[in-house]
Amino acid sequence: MKRIVVLISGSGTNMQAIVEACKAHRIAGEVVAVISNKAGVGGLGKAQAVGIETAVLSHKDFATREAYDAELLKLIDGYQPDLVVLAGFMRILTPEFTRHYHGRMLNIHPSLLPKYKGINTHQRALDAGDTEHGVSVHFVTEELDGGPVILQATVPIFPEDTASDLQQRVHTQEHAIYPLVVNWFCTDRLRLTADGAELDGEVLGSAGYAAE
Ligand code: GAR
Repeated sequence: MKRIVVLISGSGTNMQAIVEACKAHRIAGEVVAVISNKAGVGGLGKAQAVGIETAVLSHKDFATREAYDAELLKLIDGYQPDLVVLAGFMRILTPEFTRHYHGRMLNIHPSLLPKYKGINTHQRALDAGDTEHGVSVHFVTEELDGGPVILQATVPIFPEDTASDLQQRVHTQEHAIYPLVVNWFCTDRLRLTADGAELDGEVLGSAGYAAE
């Protein structure tokens, strides 16, 4: 059983999907802690409700990004994780931090990467007149939202859609694909190599596993 630490900043619905998949044995792992950079967010309550240890480390208590990430790293490593899962953790990470977890940190990003790195992805897809949007799970590297993609899911964009409609549609897909990818890692099927993300010994293409 792999030990998983999940980092959140908000409602934690992806964290919850992963916790539920662990409990249902759809993930060969256990969420040993949930850490938030913000106190009082919904995800902390959700984790506590199912008996998972939580911690808050506020970035506001640190003068620099480097100092925060160094302390966060110590906190995470105290739980001896095999995998660190970013689930709506809205922080830009230092190279020292991403290097430390190289090959053992995943992120979910609400766009079809490499499109729309950063924030406001749903509105940006609407503004661009896209007819398709989606979500990507990827390994975290030094480049913001730039590490090798493992799996994407697409959703349609309908003419009357608002950013909130799109967000909900994307969320549904997130809850399906993130647990799947986490389990690939936990069952040693997925790893990060110099050539990119590798699943069952095959290097994945730039759009991940589902690409044709
Ligand atoms: C998710 O939609 C996730 O893709 C996004 O934050 C949301 C968190 O929702 N992540 C990012 O934007 C990362 N750049 P949740 O707290 O309900 O899981």
